Amino acid sequence: MIEIKTAGEIAAMRESGKVVAAVQAAVRQEAAVGVSLKRLDEVARTVIAEAGAGASFLGYHPSFGAMPYPGVICTSVNGVMLHGLPTPYRLRDGDLISVDCGAYVDGWHADGTVSFTVGQPRAEDLKLIRVAEETLAAGIEAARPDGRMGDIGHAMSTVGRGAGYGMQNDFGGHGIGRAMHESPFVPNEARPGRGIRLRPGLVIAIEPSLMAGGHDRYYMDSDGWSVCSGDGSRSVHVEHTVAITEDGPVILTLP
Ligand code: MF3
Ligand code: CO
Repeated sequence: MIEIKTAGEIAAMRESGKVVAAVQAAVRQEAAVGVSLKRLDEVARTVIAEAGAGASFLGYHPSFGAMPYPGVICTSVNGVMLHGLPTPYRLRDGDLISVDCGAYVDGWHADGTVSFTVGQPRAEDLKLIRVAEETLAAGIEAARPDGRMGDIGHAMSTVGRGAGYGMQNDFGGHGIGRAMHESPFVPNEARPGRGIRLRPGLVIAIEPSLMAGGHDRYYMDSDGWSVCSGDGSRSVHVEHTVAITEDGPVILTLP
């Protein structure tokens, strides 16, 4: 069932979105060569706790995960595309990292992901990040009350594939609200004019991921959580929680 949110409920979700943005800012500030992913998770835990919020990811156990999720953020480095575990791995010069965070306030969840480099960046990584951000922006732009769900995926794949990058459609976006993952599924790639009608009060997480190598294959790492690009190429994930309103899309996971 698809839950339609009131303006008051969307305002409540904006509060959790601000916590997600604050976590991302703090993690980005802390991230540097030599800093461990575990340390970034600790920083995230502190920000969530100090905001009086809850961590949506901690203990979350979907069917694809080998065990309940052990952290509050996903830290996906280089060839890890999604759900990278916050391990003792220490960031190296030029690493590309995606930080995915979910938080809830008063029972309302928000979910967002940012990607950046540490140390001396590679030009091709900066381009990959830029195109991923443009891919997400195109998807958000298509999240309008006069549109259909397929318009979002079509807008995103036009940008991501147009730049020659690989994409996958098994892990896409989702409705979000009282639960982190609600209906409907939000495909990263779809046909325009197809799928459910978008309407005011629908709140969705839009989350494309791109693989630099241009191939679409990925595999599940032996750690039981990390989803990696099949060719080992670098990958990027970006995400916002977005409310569809009469006036168009409103991003909830901004500072
Ligand atoms: N943004 C990711 C998603 O919606 C968050 C996964 S949460 C985790 O799939 F706990 F499963 F990692
Ligand atoms: Co999500």
